[in-house]
Amino acid sequence: MTGPIRVARIDLDAIARNVETLRSRVGTERAMIVVKADGYGHGAIAAARAGLAGGADWIGVADLGEALELRGAGVTAPVLAWLHSSAEDFTVAAEAGIDVGVSSIVQLDRAVAAGVASVHLKIDTGLARNGAQPSDWPEFFEHAVRAAAKGVRIRGLFSHIANAGVEADAAQVAAFERALALAESLGLEFELRHLAASASALRIPEARFDMVRFGLASYGLSPFADETGSELGLTPALELSSEVIAVRRVPADTGVSYGYRYRTPRETTLALVPLGYEDCLPRAASLSAHLLVGDELAPVAGSIAMDQLVVDVGDRPVKVGDRVVAFGDPATGAPTMDSWADAAGTINYEVTTRLGRRVERHYTGG
Ligand SMILES: Cc1ncc(COP(=O)(O)O)c(C=O)c1O
Repeated sequence: MTGPIRVARIDLDAIARNVETLRSRVGTERAMIVVKADGYGHGAIAAARAGLAGGADWIGVADLGEALELRGAGVTAPVLAWLHSSAEDFTVAAEAGIDVGVSSIVQLDRAVAAGVASVHLKIDTGLARNGAQPSDWPEFFEHAVRAAAKGVRIRGLFSHIANAGVEADAAQVAAFERALALAESLGLEFELRHLAASASALRIPEARFDMVRFGLASYGLSPFADETGSELGLTPALELSSEVIAVRRVPADTGVSYGYRYRTPRETTLALVPLGYEDCLPRAASLSAHLLVGDELAPVAGSIAMDQLVVDVGDRPVKVGDRVVAFGDPATGAPTMDSWADAAGTINYEVTTRLGRRVERHYTGG
């Protein structure tokens, strides 16, 4: 019998509760759970269902492929997809009843020609990614008015905030309001005006409008460096665990793992854990991350490899089969995903979305 060597425990009730908490905190008419990138590593379909159970009205994804995966699994809730290739086949969106975010007149025309029933106009208010630029707004909106006259539903106006500081973010809110006034003066009426994702939804009340789009925070993670998920009243939904698969006692000054970037400071016990950077533990975190081994934290010793890492457990009687938690709910004593992101000089978004394919997903709740 083979046992799972690497396990991601995903708590669907935590996702539902997080969405419920976030929703009541922002008090908007509508809320979206964003499940792009396989639900930030949690599984898009399961996360979408949990988000809906927690009171989300909409599901957000980047690509149409991600939207179709939801429809294929029988998710019938409203879905919005906003990032498209130059040759995107919008007929699939039309057939599957997916709302399409369009960033240009060309995309709008192609979506309308494909029979898409409902679109959201995406405008750039200062992120300089996709979305129509301010100089194009008048023509973009006039085009949308003509599409509406032909029966296409121009359901939403939306944009995305750069989280670049109080002033820059406020300037984006102001730009969004200007765009809105212009669009309305041309005769457009939107059911859904939406600008804020997790960070701006939580900290900028003026950015909330009709709907907020919660990605990261739905999964119990904080978008802020100065406030943790727990402080926001959220529970991390993902725990990555494994076990000790080998133990060795080594003398002082033993070089460990590739490049000997760690040398044991004294005689000690090294425990081998079959988790590596393929599983989302960044190699850049090698010299400062910790894992929970049994009931105590132990530092990573040397370079994290693709499939495995070594921890220095000192003189503790650690043995093969002992449980190891890389990250999870800090209430259980586990390191946080944020601690890994910090150790690697990256953000929790990057760690969670990199959960490797071979990690077994075990779902609880839901
Ligand atoms: C347009 C849009 N809305 C919402 C989100 C969700 O952002 P967050 O995970 O910060 O809540 C994203 C993610 O990048 C996005 O691109």
